[in-house]
Amino acid sequence: MTPDELKAIVRTVPDFPAPGIRFRDITTLIGHGEGFAAAVAHLADRARAAGAEAVAGMEARGFIFGAAVAVTLGVGFVPVRKPGKLPVETISADYALEYGSDRLEIDPGAVAAGQKVAIVDDLIATGGTALAAAALLRKAGAQVPAALFAIDLPDLGGADRLRAEGIAVEALMQFE
Ligand code: PRP
Ligand code: ADE
Repeated sequence: MTPDELKAIVRTVPDFPAPGIRFRDITTLIGHGEGFAAAVAHLADRARAAGAEAVAGMEARGFIFGAAVAVTLGVGFVPVRKPGKLPVETISADYALEYGSDRLEIDPGAVAAGQKVAIVDDLIATGGTALAAAALLRKAGAQVPAALFAIDLPDLGGADRLRAEGIAVEALMQFE
């Protein structure tokens, strides 16, 4: 399936989780076997082209796409987690969201020095989540050549913020 065909099976829910937010819901995309497989294959092609030696995905929706991309490439997966979930000493970063704020954590031992780690998530909006993940991965010693998303909301500027940090950004589809 083409990215345009995939876009047609993403559901938009108005006023979730707050008034005025048009929530771009991947439930319908990942529930479509052919669509999910195609989205993962497109993301994996881009991760391979970026020379990814590992894939990092952000809890929770980033785990769905990121783990599948890692398996497709035959590389390891680095979980970027919400607070208090990892059983080791972590490094953490706070960030703002389109609808709130949160914290992410990683196990600094989960990446090797100089390893090329591609970030994969379902969606980029303000870029706060992906920037926090990139900062953590870099602090742990990894390189972050690329960040790959099923969906970009370009009006929120996240992709541009990542590019300003020297990270190549690609998305399969865009929503206004
Ligand atoms: C969503 C989405 C991205 C992030 C994008 O996750 O999966 O990770 O928001 O927003 P940003 O570019 O403005 O940071 P959310 O924090 O809602 O958590 P979830 O994956 O647990 O649903
Ligand atoms: N994460 C941040 N903004 C979002 C949106 N509009 N739809 C789905 N997930 C999001």
